[in-house]
Amino acid sequence: MILIKTAEEIKRMKESAEILSKTFGLIKTMIQPGIKTKEIDAEAEKFIRAHGAVPSFKGYQNYPASLCISVNQQVVHGIPSDYALKEGDIVSVDGGVYYKGYHSDMAYTFIVGNIPPITQKLVTVTKESLFKAISKIKEGVRLGDIGSIIQQHVESNGFSIVRDLVGHGIGKSLHEAPQVPNYGTRGKGHELKEGMTLAIEPMVNMGKRHVLVANDGWTVFAKDGLPSAHFEHTIVVRKNEAEILTSYQYIEN
Ligand code: MF3
Ligand code: CO
Repeated sequence: MILIKTAEEIKRMKESAEILSKTFGLIKTMIQPGIKTKEIDAEAEKFIRAHGAVPSFKGYQNYPASLCISVNQQVVHGIPSDYALKEGDIVSVDGGVYYKGYHSDMAYTFIVGNIPPITQKLVTVTKESLFKAISKIKEGVRLGDIGSIIQQHVESNGFSIVRDLVGHGIGKSLHEAPQVPNYGTRGKGHELKEGMTLAIEPMVNMGKRHVLVANDGWTVFAKDGLPSAHFEHTIVVRKNEAEILTSYQYIEN
């Protein structure tokens, strides 16, 4: 069942999302050569807890950290570690905040120093696909419409949609119905209604779409070893548009 949130619930989700968005502002300042991904995780956790919130991911199905940090060919669910970022890396950071009973979820792919133009294009196209999808969302749009917009933009640029992982409803639980695939057919799937809250999260591979899970049981990586990018926002469906609850403003301004 897809839950419809009340105005009060959405207000709390917005507060949760604001803490998460500010956490990403802090993360941005730490992205530089030499920093260990577990150092980023530790600072983000401190920041979230200092705001009276809890990192959504820590302990979720025994996940051991507050962020997922996935570098280069890693797609999602990378566990923060002793790995030190280096010039030329792309770094997908995914975070969740639980506040006043509600979750928010967002992701951003950062760039460390200079990267090849094709990798820059991968990151740009992935982000564009997220915003293209969000710009089409309003009451009455179907899940297949969202998936198809993302798929079309990504594939027309020569990249691949990861299909083994999807976006999702979000609210009192981190993952609620419905699943939100990043591929699909126009006119198919559930119809969106005002008050539904969704995490939209395209995961895009430079090479083929196939992924594997590492021996740590979490890290999803591209089978062909080529880079992968990930962007995510938590949104609420409104009558005539989507309202984006999370924000990149603290990263980009
Ligand atoms: N952010 C991921 C998602 O979008 C969830 C991470 S799984 C966790 O669904 F275990 F790390 F929490
Ligand atoms: Co998510």
